[in-house]
Parts: sequence; C-alpha cells; structure tokens
Amino acid sequence: MAETQRTARLEIDGKTLDLPIYSPTAGPDVIDIRNLYSEGNVFTYDPGFTSTAACDSSITFIDGARGELLHRGYPIDQLAEKSHYLEVCYLLLYGKLPNADQIEDFENRVTTHTMLHEQMVNFFRGFRRDAHPMAIMVGVVGAMSAFYHDSTDINDPWQREVASIRLIAKMPTIAAWAYKYSTGQPFVYPRNDLDYASNFLRMCFSVPTEDYQVNPILSRAMDRIFILHADHEQNASTSTVRLASSSGANPLACIAAGIACLWGPSHGGANQACLEMLEEIGEVDRIPAFITRAKDRNDPFRLMGFGHRVYKNLDPRAKVMKQSADEVLGLLGVEKNKKLQVAKELERIALEDDYFAEKKLFPNVDFYSGVILEAMGFNTSMFTPIFALSRTVGWISQWKEMIEDPAMKIGRPRQLYSGNTRRDYVDVEDR
Ligand code: SDX
Repeated sequence: MAETQRTARLEIDGKTLDLPIYSPTAGPDVIDIRNLYSEGNVFTYDPGFTSTAACDSSITFIDGARGELLHRGYPIDQLAEKSHYLEVCYLLLYGKLPNADQIEDFENRVTTHTMLHEQMVNFFRGFRRDAHPMAIMVGVVGAMSAFYHDSTDINDPWQREVASIRLIAKMPTIAAWAYKYSTGQPFVYPRNDLDYASNFLRMCFSVPTEDYQVNPILSRAMDRIFILHADHEQNASTSTVRLASSSGANPLACIAAGIACLWGPSHGGANQACLEMLEEIGEVDRIPAFITRAKDRNDPFRLMGFGHRVYKNLDPRAKVMKQSADEVLGLLGVEKNKKLQVAKELERIALEDDYFAEKKLFPNVDFYSGVILEAMGFNTSMFTPIFALSRTVGWISQWKEMIEDPAMKIGRPRQLYSGNTRRDYVDVEDR
C-alpha cells in the first residue's frame, strides 16, 4: 500500500478531520478511518460492507468492472488453462509459482497427509444418513481441533504450516466420506499414487466390489473446478474465517466457521440452488415466466447463479466454467444435456433483458458449475462441499496472511444503535 500525502477532508459540526488516503497497487484508493471515532466521535455506517476495505491483502484481486480475477497477479483463465490445483495452492500460500523441486515437495507433503485420524470415523457415524454433507463437513472439520492439538498454536509458524497442509490434504477425504456416508457405501481411503483430483474422484465413486479407473477427462475437469473456486478476496466465508481467527481461535475451528457461512444459498450454496432452479424450469419455453419472477421485487425468487457483489461484468470463472461444461459434456457424450441447454438459453435471454443489464447482473461462478458436477456423477448436495474443499486453501492463505500481520487486531465492529435509551426496571405487578 503506497502512503500518499493526499487526505480526505471531513467537516462534522464545524470540526475538520483530514483522513489519510492510501493508493493500493490495484483497485480503488482507500480512506483510513481508524482514528475517525477517537478524533471525530462518529462511526461510519456500511452494513454488508459494500464500501469497506477490512484488511490489507496481497493474495487475490478482483476488478469487478472488467471481470478480472488475479491470484498473486496471475489471471484466473491462465491458471485454469496452464496450472493445476496444488500449484495454485502453493501460489496462494507462499506468493509465487513453485519451481520443479518446490512443487514436488509440496505435493508430497499434501499427498502423505490425506488420511484422517481413524478414530474420526466415529464422528461420521453419529450423523443421520440423510444429513446434508455440508452439516457433516462443519462438524467433522470443527472436531479436527479436538484431534490435532499439535497444529493449533497460531503463534508457532511451524504449527501454522502443519495446519495449512493438513486442511488442504484432508478436506477431500472429509468431503468424500461425507458423500459415501450419505449413500450408505463404505469409506474409500485415499491413495498416494493418485493426483489430488483423481484421489477425490476415486474416494467418491469407487466401490470395493470392482476396480475403479479414474477418467482423465473428469480428473482434469475436477482439478479445474478446484482452481476456479480456490480464493476470491474478502467474500463472506473468508471474512468469517478472518474474523473468527482474529480472536486467536485455532484455525481448524475457524475453517469450520467458514464452511458454515459458505453453505448459504446467497454464497456457496448457490451452485446447488442453481441446478435445482434449472430442474424446476425444466424446459426452455418456461424461462420467460422465471425471468418475470426474478424481476418482480415482490417475489423473493432470484436467478440463482446470477449477480455478484463485486462483478458488474461477467465473472471470469463463469466464462471458463461454461467452456469447460461444453468440453466435458461433449467428451462424455451428453452435450444435449437439457439443463445445459436451459442454462445457456436463460443466460442469453437474461443478458438481453434491460433489468439485468441495468443492474449489471451476469452469471457467476455458480451458474454452470452444477451442470458439470451433475454430469460427472455428483448429486446436488455435494456441490457446495466441493466448493468448500476448493476454497479451503483460500481461507487458509487469508488466515495465514492475517496472523502473520504484526498490525493484526481482534475484529470488533460497532453499530448504529436504534434501540431503547436508558429506562428503569418495572416490577411485574406494575406493568
Ligand atoms: C458466490 O463474494 C464473493 O466473492 C462470493 C463468491 C466467491 O467466490 O466467494 O463469488 C461466490 O457467492 C457467488 C454468488 C452466488 N449467489 C447467487 O448466485 C445467488 C443469487 N445472487 C444474489 O443473491 C445476489 O446477486 C448476490 C447475493 C450474489 C449479491 O447480492 P448484493 O451484492 O447484495 O446485491 P443486491 O442483493 O443488493 O442486488 C442488487 C439488485 C437488487 O435489486 P433492487 O433491490 O436494487 O431493485 O439486483 C437484484 C436485487 O433484487 N438482484 C437480482 C439478483 N441478484 C441481485 N435479481 C434477480 N436475480 C438475481 N440473482
């Protein structure tokens, strides 16, 4: 962040405050209001944080107007095409692309930590069979802090590193076992001779009664989906992890908080909601009625997978996901997939509609992902767990950056109070 001599002058009841302005390496300038209350005795008011920079970060940058997403400066479309998920994990965690030795060592450390403590199997068995896999992930990841005591001291750099590798390594196993538990099939253990995406697919879809060969088309598509969901600035779940971690709580419990936040249909739960919406629409000729509902302010219905707080142009991840949907479904011989046809027609109609143009509503990362995941064999309840698995590296990288920042303070927002002012207690017989 570049210090500038520029200031923003604020006049409040005859008092003048000059607030420093900082220029970032990219994006809008920021006004430093840290002394506003102490010097001006006022708060700012920004529910939903539409205009608030909550931290100084160098991991991910989004240009919402241009529809650009950079991870440590590298564009997401180049990473999706040329990189692979564990290399993107290294980039997000350590700030640079690894050389051959570094990526081999990193992949080996992740690969050799994919197993869960065997006693943790009991946590899965405590859930009802019809429990949503996200409920299982919240519970099991939170329970990790009761098992892995040697990676919960956030002030020990080595323990922070161990926690980071453990979470990235074990999340696919937890997600796959949550899926297997919901199907009544036995858990499948990870294998060290498979790459990250292939391991996850095998843990989800193989059964003891026959050999399972990973389809390289699905493995590449899975890895690309992991990359597209890896990190995304200070979104709701990442902000949850940062705020929870700012109290010094252990990272395993804080990641569980992030999973809980991601589950909401306005956030990571939108991929499941979007596919269910496409199923409800069913046919292309039913689209106009749903568009009408989405535009009706009195109707709570929204086009799931559309709109974004930051992107006011096409989400670059949606662009890559749409290309991947065509490629994967074509290679799987299901290019005539009805939901994909409805999705494409829905996008075309919406983008020609003034309502969506005026509000700058475009497809986001969740619009096409569900079509691919369903074609790969996942049921809708696994869509958000896959998002959570992918985003774990983003949560951990942002957590690491915050813990290592000497200026870190516990997060404690204030409020605009609109409740009762002081009044005396009234005995029940006098009410
Ligand atoms: C993710 O933050 C991140 O980076 C998140 C994410 C990540 O990688 O971490 O990108 C992942 O969460 C993507 C978003 C997934 N959610 C959805 O697809 C759910 C549908 N989208 C909406 O709920 C909404 O667009 C949000 C929640 C995504 C954004 O909401 P905002 O920024 O608070 O915008 P808003 O609700 O104030 O909407 C602005 C206007 C409103 O109309 P008016 O009140 O001004 O008349 O646009 C309308 C909204 O009604 N609008 C929609 C709409 N989204 C917004 N109208 C119809 N359909 C929609 N999808």
